[in-house]
Amino acid sequence: MNILIIGTGYVGATTAMVFAESGWQVTGLDIDANKIERLRQGQLHFHEPGLEQLIDKHVRSGRLLFTTDQETAITGHDVIFICVGTPSRPDGNADLRYIQQAAEDIGQWMNGYKLVVTKSTVPVGTQEQVTAWIQAAQRQPHPFDAASNPEFLREGKAVEDALRPDRIIIGADSPKATEQLLMLYQSFHCPKILTTPRTAELIKYASNAFLATKISYMNELAKLCDESKVNVNEVARGMGLDPRIGPSFLQAGLGYGGSCFPKDVSELVMSAREQGVQLRILEQVMEVNRSQYAYLLDKARSRLGDFANKNIAILGLAFKPDTDDIREAPALRMIYDLLLEQANVRLFDPIAALPAHSSFDTVKVCTSAEEAIQGADAVILCTEWTAFGQLDWEKLKGQLRQPNFFDGRNMMDARAMRGIGFYYQGIGNDY
Ligand code: UGA
Repeated sequence: MNILIIGTGYVGATTAMVFAESGWQVTGLDIDANKIERLRQGQLHFHEPGLEQLIDKHVRSGRLLFTTDQETAITGHDVIFICVGTPSRPDGNADLRYIQQAAEDIGQWMNGYKLVVTKSTVPVGTQEQVTAWIQAAQRQPHPFDAASNPEFLREGKAVEDALRPDRIIIGADSPKATEQLLMLYQSFHCPKILTTPRTAELIKYASNAFLATKISYMNELAKLCDESKVNVNEVARGMGLDPRIGPSFLQAGLGYGGSCFPKDVSELVMSAREQGVQLRILEQVMEVNRSQYAYLLDKARSRLGDFANKNIAILGLAFKPDTDDIREAPALRMIYDLLLEQANVRLFDPIAALPAHSSFDTVKVCTSAEEAIQGADAVILCTEWTAFGQLDWEKLKGQLRQPNFFDGRNMMDARAMRGIGFYYQGIGNDY
């Protein structure tokens, strides 16, 4: 079997690499000629630790090809993975137009049996729609199977997650499709769940929504911790040792961002609502997350009186470390509010850049954390880049106009920061 991957974003590029690493012949197809040209040179169009080297390795070995030629790509491959984006529409529902386009392209160029597998995160029932779109676009009837095989990789850890997944979910209606997918994943020794396409689709949403729930739960608890003179990190440690709870995703902070959690929770809530089911817990998860950044901003405002003409150093823009992705990053909302309140914002992120938008024109983008904090009335840490923890804050304190530190990721040790003379506030970690 040779494999075609439609869409070469995070999921597509990583999936292409994984199958090439497993020994299969893989082609990546994208409508963006610039992306394809760069990938052909073994270069990635986004930042993802370790991925570019592996793509380059397989481009050189000839196991990984890239093309913009739909017809040749679709006619020449029997297994096709759809890895295109599924952004949110303004009403919170998933926008499936790219999935539909991919399905119609497959239908149009189909020349024999194809296994069509959706890896993108899609609402329950999408596999049935993919089937209908392919059928409607076929010029002459050819047999095919449509399956669902959701991806669980994290940005920044994509290589590790994709090469060593903790489970593989195969949602297929036909034994032939299941068999082919099992063969493609034969070198992976994690649990493989064989189920229906609808179940596979919901497993993905339910997993992301549950992780988002853990985060919002800890963020609410952090506010109680502040009032109760309790440290939320210690509460998390104590909770996490219970195997029924587990230690991960209990980190309080500015809330979740990125291209997945905000979109997926909202899509799950919306699609449930359309079926007459109100997911009340998830509605609150979204609400807690939406306002979480303001909690830290309020702390800073109380300390400084107001933000007008104050120099505020923002450390970190990406929605989390090890990525240049700023989609739904809490730092963006923070900066936006600070500018509205007439603050002078100085920003540093090791790799992420502000969007080209006039609202951010007055932000002073700095080339180092040291530069950003010069003359600052307060530092607000928004992303826990390791480098920020390694700075000599005792020495740097003298560069600030006022030694105020607001830690949106509970990265610093509160006692140590206070010990060296900072006014330090985190999120539920003050005691
Ligand atoms: C998430 C899931 O973790 C992946 O399993 C999934 O495949 C992916 O979405 C997707 O649907 O494609 P990702 O968005 O890359 O991955 O990032 P995470 O590492 O999960 O972090 C999401 C957000 O939650 C970040 O803003 C992070 O700062 C925040 N977070 C995470 C917390 O605030 N506290 C925590 O304890 C953990």
